[in-house]
Amino acid sequence: MGLNLAQKIIKEHLISGEMVEGKEIAIRIDQTLTQDSTGTMAYLQFEAMGIPRVKTKKSVAYIDHNTLQAGFENADDHKYIQTVAAKHGVYFSRPGNGICHQVHLERFGVPGMTLLGSDSHTPTAGGLGMLAIGAGGLDVAVAMGGGPYYLTMPKVCKVTLKGKLRPWVSAKDIILEVLRIMTVKGGVGKIIEYAGDGIKSLTVPERATITNMGAELGATTSIFPSDEVTREFLKAQGREEDWVELKPDPDAVYDEELEIDLSSLEPLAAKPHSPDNVEKVKDIGKIKVDQVAIGSCTNSSFMDMMKVAKILKGKTVHPDVSLVIAPGSKQVLTMIAKNGALADMVAAGARILESACGPCIGMGQAPKTNAVSLRTFNRNFEGRSGTKSAQVYLVSPEVAAVSAITGVLTNPEEFGEAPQVEMPSEFIADDNMIVPPAPEGEEVEVVRGPNIKPFPLNKELENEIGGKILIKVEDNITTDHIMPSNAKLLPYRSNVPYLAEYCLTPCDPDFPKRAKENNGGFIVGGSNYGQGSSREHAALAPLQLGVKGVIAKSFARIHMANLINSGIIPMTFENEGDYDEIDMGDEIVIENIIDQIKSGSRLIVKNKTKNKDIPVNVSLSERQVEIILAGGLINYTKKQSK
Ligand code: F3S
Repeated sequence: MGLNLAQKIIKEHLISGEMVEGKEIAIRIDQTLTQDSTGTMAYLQFEAMGIPRVKTKKSVAYIDHNTLQAGFENADDHKYIQTVAAKHGVYFSRPGNGICHQVHLERFGVPGMTLLGSDSHTPTAGGLGMLAIGAGGLDVAVAMGGGPYYLTMPKVCKVTLKGKLRPWVSAKDIILEVLRIMTVKGGVGKIIEYAGDGIKSLTVPERATITNMGAELGATTSIFPSDEVTREFLKAQGREEDWVELKPDPDAVYDEELEIDLSSLEPLAAKPHSPDNVEKVKDIGKIKVDQVAIGSCTNSSFMDMMKVAKILKGKTVHPDVSLVIAPGSKQVLTMIAKNGALADMVAAGARILESACGPCIGMGQAPKTNAVSLRTFNRNFEGRSGTKSAQVYLVSPEVAAVSAITGVLTNPEEFGEAPQVEMPSEFIADDNMIVPPAPEGEEVEVVRGPNIKPFPLNKELENEIGGKILIKVEDNITTDHIMPSNAKLLPYRSNVPYLAEYCLTPCDPDFPKRAKENNGGFIVGGSNYGQGSSREHAALAPLQLGVKGVIAKSFARIHMANLINSGIIPMTFENEGDYDEIDMGDEIVIENIIDQIKSGSRLIVKNKTKNKDIPVNVSLSERQVEIILAGGLINYTKKQSK
């Protein structure tokens, strides 16, 4: 049986497991990327592993999210990332060099390789034929240390693109159509593989617009074949030697199939407040527009900018519209500055922003109250723009530029002739804003501002553990209870000791103090303990306070995995009624725990205060047993790398 493209790359990188849908597999990671907002934590975790140099083929640290320097915190984070990258063999893309996914496509992506990034839009590189997956910071740290990435073998869904787009219809409309059909949940547990004669007419940046928003489908990743179009792009970037041809076998099998006739598509928009709330622009009608924002990792390529500049040339932005444009990278900005397109944008009244995420991550340009904002971005959740009452529509650069001139949402097909833009045969490729790692890492001193604190690390599991029940909580405790995340605490992402002072305080303000006075101990929880977000800090803060285990009626899946990664033992009551047999302040002990964990899933917790044995279960895979014994994933990876 032939293999599809996704299976071919997975097979090439498979370390363990079987390529059977739904089974756990482990793959080797060739490249990693981080951005600054998740990067600080990923590098703190990597440092904690004690591995001197990254073991990937290439790892890159980008600064593109928190580029606003209203206080010292962001600037401190940037300097820390720059120096830690230099020390450990990571390339550093300086602030101003561009959005991680745009720059990675231009300068680093290689067809057929695997890329793990601590950003959900990492699949953008699938436009180049990479198997590119977004993951948590710890997963990326482990990959940098040479560890595999574990995932559930996804289904592979083939999307066949037929025919050619009409003028004024663009790649953005293709992915909006896929979102309309599949919805924001439709891609969960799947890889979306694009095929068909229609892909030949799409350049690599256009393909990347489509794979970028595969994240909004909830897909593991999206991928295009690597063909002559890919070769032309890499050649124009001066990297033709990175090209390899990649295509599915002729008899490849897919789990699902979908077909889209490109010639039938019309300009589309995702209405507030979901990327799958898609309708034809002409059917939405001419609503008044207050703001137009062009850029983001979805639509900020050279070709996108050229289309916008050609539409704006000789025109003036409507007096009621604020038009902001953020070119995706220094390369794009340099090229439009040199060929005069930037001057056309400025002359028309556009406000030019630095090459960064900017308004997409809420760094400035919040629209006015009740505003209608047209954005070429990938997400329009309520409040993401910074203004709760704003109505954000996701559109193509063409719809955005035309509407900026008319002042109302406009179907560009009514606007005249569509701009023609060719991909250049040569991009201006100057990597002077990418700092290569220091050849001798040992000599680099890592600069840690006051906000950068070492990462808490557990110890190897001892054969007997014991201590006090530090807190007993009810059912449905969320990660927000365990580790609150509010605007006040957000700048302390890289300062776990500070954050730990707020751990479980919504349940009991004295918990952190009590935990420290007792040198750690145990938590007792009800059902569904740790529901909510995937926040790693909800396990790191208890670890910082010395928590050794949590005994609950049941756990939320992701929080349980995060506890295991921190070396904190998640235990469930064998008899739920035993929840009543254990109280705050009770002294417990678990004897001979290593043998008990190795030989099965049942442990005996001795409640010394109440003189009662409480049977509990631990449900761990073989690998998770090793992680718990090593004292967490970081220690485990450290051991494996030796
Ligand atoms: Fe940045 Fe927005 Fe993309 S925050 S990485 S431009 S989704």
